[in-house]
Amino acid sequence: MSDQKVYPVKPEFADSAWINNEKYLQMYQQSVINPEGFWREQAEQRIDWIKPFTRVRNVSFDDHNVDIKWFEDGTLNASANCLDRHLETRGDQVAIIWEGDDPDQDRHITYKELHEEVSRFANALRGQGVRKGDIVCIYMPMIPEAAVAMLACTRIGAVHSVVFGGFSPDALAGRIEDSNAKIVITSDEGVRAGKRVPLKANVDEALTNPAIRSLEKVIVVKRTGSDVAWHAHRDVWYHDLISLASPHCPAEEMGAEDPLFILYTSGSTGKPKGVLHTTGGYMVWASITHQYVFDYHDGDIYWCTADVGWITGHTYLLYGPLANGGTTLMCEGVPNYPDINRFSQIVDKHQVNILYTAPTAIRSLMAEGSKAVEGTHRESLRLLGSVGEPINPEAWEWYYRTIGEERCPVVDTWWQTETGGIMITPLPGATDTKPGSATLPFFGVQPALVDNTGMLLEGAVEGNLVMIDSWPGQARSVFGDHERFVQTYFSTFRGMYFTGDGARRDEDGYYWITGRVDDVINVSGHRMGTAEVESALVAHPKVAEAAVVGYPHDIKGQGIYVYVTLNAGEESSEELVKELRNWVRAEIGPIAAPDLIQITPGLPKTRSGKIMRRILRKIAANEHESLGDISTLADPSVVESLIDKRLNRG
Ligand code: WT7
Repeated sequence: MSDQKVYPVKPEFADSAWINNEKYLQMYQQSVINPEGFWREQAEQRIDWIKPFTRVRNVSFDDHNVDIKWFEDGTLNASANCLDRHLETRGDQVAIIWEGDDPDQDRHITYKELHEEVSRFANALRGQGVRKGDIVCIYMPMIPEAAVAMLACTRIGAVHSVVFGGFSPDALAGRIEDSNAKIVITSDEGVRAGKRVPLKANVDEALTNPAIRSLEKVIVVKRTGSDVAWHAHRDVWYHDLISLASPHCPAEEMGAEDPLFILYTSGSTGKPKGVLHTTGGYMVWASITHQYVFDYHDGDIYWCTADVGWITGHTYLLYGPLANGGTTLMCEGVPNYPDINRFSQIVDKHQVNILYTAPTAIRSLMAEGSKAVEGTHRESLRLLGSVGEPINPEAWEWYYRTIGEERCPVVDTWWQTETGGIMITPLPGATDTKPGSATLPFFGVQPALVDNTGMLLEGAVEGNLVMIDSWPGQARSVFGDHERFVQTYFSTFRGMYFTGDGARRDEDGYYWITGRVDDVINVSGHRMGTAEVESALVAHPKVAEAAVVGYPHDIKGQGIYVYVTLNAGEESSEELVKELRNWVRAEIGPIAAPDLIQITPGLPKTRSGKIMRRILRKIAANEHESLGDISTLADPSVVESLIDKRLNRG
């Protein structure tokens, strides 16, 4: 749309930015014309290698042989790159600012202190039998020990698998089982918005699952001090281990392609998959994107609000900022507790310069209008970032005007768990922005749009978003199932990485992400496989069939709309609706709790028995006027009753 509002780069920002427009064009050209040269230079400059690499890339996207390697003969250690190499120049600089759920609690941890704690805990893990290549599950609240645990794994070459603390015991059990984790690190409880989250009890419950055979120890951090059940043969206190461990722990020499971590994410089918990231390429990607996208300079206070349980928490709370010797703020709480202006208060309290958050948080604050900033001035802010879902232009404008007072550029960053880091984004000193567009590719990123047959589309069009070549931060596999990796990402369109997203490209070459084109929905920036919610629902004794779709939701972006049919003899009731909502909450976690549940006598199916989701999506969106052709349905009358009893009426 040519009538779209454009916000030109601020000249005063461009003057002092790492990358201005001219530099972006020149470096982007170089990064795609000569990727070997470009990435050789970046990787040599940014990362301390133990043994330098000679080979830059070795990549095949051919679906018979998907193989992705970067810097493959080099060796390094990620924790040494985040800690040890900064000690000489910035040992006393604050690495992590921790802000508690309670505004009266905070901590400042210097690089020296973090290095020592990580080294102690790394030794402790070794003492518990953890070896290079072992999987360690981290199920923690947002406390500094979560970062310590991740870096300690990295230090000894163990592979962390962080599971979001909001997931249920069942969801946790599935991830422990799939990864064969040997250790779980957790805390007695978490604290969020004044409420306690029973993490240790959840672990205990998860571990009653007989399918879990790999697990040896549970290490427990004391956060609240509440009583927890104790299994003496299995459970160990973190503080006991730390106090006994030596603060000297040489970092393990890791191959660039050795696994760094796995992180489970939902897809359109099956169980969540453990997306596997390796060491060298990921660290290069985390470092370069964090520096240039956030225009990070020494001394900046940087705040990414994501939980460590998500990829954003991995790359932009921890690895990126620490690789760059930055100061990263970690917040235990939520944006509106205890006061609606908490976000802004934290910005003022810690003099935050760069804020990176999600549209859902922005919209929930926007709903409160000026109350969200009352009594605060936010003068320290220089840059605002957004991630996780499409940001609607209204929310973008509000973020820009109300939070940033029209002073701070907004970077809307598109990427995925699988991409390791930011892919399509403005650079604040280089790219004119248009609210709602993630704009242009980062260095080395080659996006393209294809039609459903895989034909490349040129010019201003809409299509399926693919990447036609590799970048260093790309996921290498699905843990334990490389075939699934190939199937999911490389088989839909031959020779290309398929993102699962649709996008439009405008006449300036800007990308506008339109959302998922598969059966994945995005609820408050959290990715949810509709199949996962469906399988939780059909596990309920009263449910016969379930179909789950997303629908537009003012705050969450998408809400979860559920259609269920009941087993013969079961009656629909308010009670049952409540019961089903709680059921899903318990099976997966609160983030999966359905917003709307429509109990219905039938679902729209084709004669071959396939549920027609297109119709269900339309009805859920209150767009039943434009259902399109329903003549192929086995029983078109089902639709009438669905529309009649629909739950979203605008
Ligand atoms: C999916 C990836 C990126 C880290 C957090 C989510 C959607 C993400 C944007 C954006 C429009 C976005 C996509 C993507 N998404 N960022 N700026 N604009 N959509 O990671 O859980 O792997 O989800 O989130 O649909 O595929 P994730």
